[in-house]
Amino acid sequence: MVKQDLEIDSYRMYEFSNNIGYIDEKIPDDVYKTILDEIDISFREKHPHNTKLVGNIEEQYYMPWRDNLKLFKVENYLRGLAGIYEKKFNYTQSMGNQTMSLNEGMSFDLRLRNCWVNYMKKYEFNPLHNHSGLYSFVIFVKIPYNLKDEFNSLRTRNPKQKFPGCFTFYCGNGLGEFVPHVIEADKEWEQVIIMFPSVTQHCVYPFYTSDDYRITVSGNLYLNPVSKPAVSYY
Ligand SMILES: [Fe+2]
Repeated sequence: MVKQDLEIDSYRMYEFSNNIGYIDEKIPDDVYKTILDEIDISFREKHPHNTKLVGNIEEQYYMPWRDNLKLFKVENYLRGLAGIYEKKFNYTQSMGNQTMSLNEGMSFDLRLRNCWVNYMKKYEFNPLHNHSGLYSFVIFVKIPYNLKDEFNSLRTRNPKQKFPGCFTFYCGNGLGEFVPHVIEADKEWEQVIIMFPSVTQHCVYPFYTSDDYRITVSGNLYLNPVSKPAVSYY
């Protein structure tokens, strides 16, 4: 009898990490067109949103979403994406006290409460921060540089640490280390959305090789408890 056979089945394994991540998707054309229209409105009206944001970015404009039909269309899309995320990560349940009402049988709805567009210029940056709400998102609208050019600098010599022009998450790993997760978003990422828990820390590093705007839309979805099931807008 070989004792080793018994020992193979005697161990148990436990995972430290809560397995939270982000989701990305190319936005359907009709939803994206609605978002582009709203960007045009916000750029014309230019309501600065800088006092509410930490970005070292001169042009950050609030998106008003005054047309309810357009708002509901985009909200509905975002809600669907959050639902897919929820299925994979079971995030809302893992939020504990902040979503306790869900355990008491209350219905809830996700509502887009604030939304803004960033026109980031060369050398500007968005320092490490997180958002309010339950879910947050970033939509890449225009990336005016190639990351190959951004990384081709004497400043950027470490092949494992390439940050210029990149959106980067910082998350704890299973050992409690705070580690970067770099999204190398270039022109291919235009029309792509990323959605993530609002508490997730992230930043955007400056770019150096273009004089055009890097344009992104950001926003937060808030958990809105309702006494009746969520109203369908269609
Ligand atoms: Fe942000």
